[in-house]
Amino acid sequence: MPERTPYIAANWKMHKTVAEAAEFVDALLPRIAATQSDVVLCAPFTALTAVVERRYGTAVKVAAQNMHEEDSGAFTGEVSAPMLVELDVEAVILGHSERRQYFNETDEALARKVAKALTADLEPILCVGESEEARDAGETEEVLERQLQADLSGIEPGQIENVVIAYEPIWAIGTGRTATPEQAEETCAFIRDVLRARGGAADRVRILYGGSVKPANAAELLSLPDIDGALVGGASLDAEDFAAIVEAAG
Ligand code: PGA
Repeated sequence: MPERTPYIAANWKMHKTVAEAAEFVDALLPRIAATQSDVVLCAPFTALTAVVERRYGTAVKVAAQNMHEEDSGAFTGEVSAPMLVELDVEAVILGHSERRQYFNETDEALARKVAKALTADLEPILCVGESEEARDAGETEEVLERQLQADLSGIEPGQIENVVIAYEPIWAIGTGRTATPEQAEETCAFIRDVLRARGGAADRVRILYGGSVKPANAAELLSLPDIDGALVGGASLDAEDFAAIVEAAG
């Protein structure tokens, strides 16, 4: 089985001004200098340049939290892949549950966004996850399979190894309620099975867990065989906490 480099991503959401982002990066970099993991900072659009400039010469990657699927056009308020690439941004979160829930992000648009990101050489971090009702109704696998098939429908099986998948149960996001290690592992293993069945090198795909990851639970979650990293929200706002999670990845 190929070695998968751990992937630890900070999803700042709508937090951090340019000054706050710069302060965070300056505090983080010395703390994580020895890491062998991929460390990715998903900053708001306005702070991307400040983060990019500070991380030059380090292994830290920078990601946006969304993008439009077209290169340009009459889409007021949107940002495109070429605009991100021009800033030296390397990755983009797509399909976060908050965007699906509050901004009507659809699977149809996501299929186009994932394909566009790969064409533009941006690494997509595709988020999938079930609601509490779906989990309680025993429909978790059905929901995830549907999201994965729809959101990946615009790419060839051979491209899957360039996509990062984040499994984020909606009921665990920002709630302090983490999936149990068993639930997280079982579900990430299921996601890998779905990818394997579609063809392509599923064993090379990094699958992250997200949902109330913090220094106290990171090591256990990251030790599980099908969990290759974390997408961290609340605990990524503090450089010390995020550094501790990066350390937990080894
Ligand atoms: P959380 O958010 O760590 O605050 O639960 C995770 C996410 O939404 O990516």
